[in-house]
Amino acid sequence: MADEDYGRFLSAHPAYAGTASIDELRRRDYSRLDAQGQVYLDYTGAGLYGESQVAKHLGLLKAGVFGNPHSTNPSSQAATVLVEGARARVLEYFNANPDEYVVVFTENASGALKLIGESYPFGGSAPGAGRGRFLLTFDNHNSVNGIREFARTRGADVVYVPVELPDLRVSDARIEAELAARPGAGGSLFAFPAQSNFSSVRHPLSWIAKAKAAGWDVLLDAAAFAPTNSLDLSLYKPDFMALSFYKMFGYPTGIGALIARREALIRLRRPWFAGGTITVASVQGDRYYLSEGAAGFEDGTVDFLGLPAVAIGLDHLAGIGVALVHERVEALVGYLLERLTSMRHASGVPLVRVYGPEDTKDRGGAIALNFSDSSGAPIDHRRIEAEANARGISLRTGCFCNPGAGEIALGISRAELATCFTQPSHAKRLTIDDFRDCIDGKSTGAVRISLGIASDFRDAAAFVDFAAGFLDR
Ligand SMILES: Cc1ncc(COP(=O)(O)O)c(C=O)c1O
Repeated sequence: MADEDYGRFLSAHPAYAGTASIDELRRRDYSRLDAQGQVYLDYTGAGLYGESQVAKHLGLLKAGVFGNPHSTNPSSQAATVLVEGARARVLEYFNANPDEYVVVFTENASGALKLIGESYPFGGSAPGAGRGRFLLTFDNHNSVNGIREFARTRGADVVYVPVELPDLRVSDARIEAELAARPGAGGSLFAFPAQSNFSSVRHPLSWIAKAKAAGWDVLLDAAAFAPTNSLDLSLYKPDFMALSFYKMFGYPTGIGALIARREALIRLRRPWFAGGTITVASVQGDRYYLSEGAAGFEDGTVDFLGLPAVAIGLDHLAGIGVALVHERVEALVGYLLERLTSMRHASGVPLVRVYGPEDTKDRGGAIALNFSDSSGAPIDHRRIEAEANARGISLRTGCFCNPGAGEIALGISRAELATCFTQPSHAKRLTIDDFRDCIDGKSTGAVRISLGIASDFRDAAAFVDFAAGFLDR
């Protein structure tokens, strides 16, 4: 049966056969998955590292003597070479011209986004320059949503553009209307995810040039997009781009980047200084001078031993070919969508509801969904997770730090939220269980499965098999 299934899958998705080199890679570099019988379906949570990446990194550390960078002693110079090598490799990977773009290393994508939040001139760069504007789509991750708090503190207007059912896409016309309504002289920043980590919708990168032409600065959250898509910064030129490397290739954790246009970075105003960010700071003179470029944004000592693993990881992903990963993931997602959306209980009730596009056009490698029982009543996502755990399947449930997409997908209205948040008992504290009680018994989350660098047909088929176990229950 499994072979028949695989045969049918291959004839429906012939491009998969062309990605066979990833099967060999999985045997060689990700053998632990099959040795332990694990079905990993949480690549949007974190990518998986190949064993060769770790071995190369360890080999490098074993062979060298590396001290704190940016001094002239030999161990320091050796570390500086690695740090600057990683920086150059990031630019090269994204085809970014070093005269135009600069890489600021951060602890993760959230760290990169926070740098923008605290430094972007929402109130204009000169006193009294006018109200700024922060425009963003509903389906941003909370680490982008959080920027609104900085924006409001500086008097900027915050404008959300909703995602719309059934596909959870944003209307192009609405985006264009908002971009055209840019107000006065304050800074105007437009933020969107290249790929939503809830619905996996890939938004048009053509928005970047449109927004720039209308005078906006653009912040692209590439955290969920970069692991399975190529991004060429000579074609698309956001002012700021945030990502986490562990999502792309699993290892190292704790390192992300803000990739910024030099011209845009200069306009950011950091609210403080720290070791490593200044050329000169004086106690008696009460002055400081921020370093130019990336150094002014990297607080303290960068992860100089971890950074070479970023270059190794980029080589690893480039060696496989992100386009090949993309192709394979697209075929697997196509299969999963076809199989999951066609399953029906004997009562005729569909087994699952998928949130987001039900085909592979302009969508990525994650599927958010909920299960129903044979009467159509929702099955709590926590129960699905518990049963998946017992089968060795790693998936994720909740709202994935993406409340805007979740609220639209799950039908939670502005009025319901206002009623909940204005209850006196919720003035200071609201647990997730309180929130569930408030929302009238509606589901407050979903199940998300996601594919990536080492996924294969067996992973997808294992989930289909797991899902079928809920039929007629
Ligand atoms: C689209 C998106 N943006 C930002 C983040 C935040 O990434 P990190 O937790 O690595 O800072 C995530 C994490 O899942 C994400 O999916």
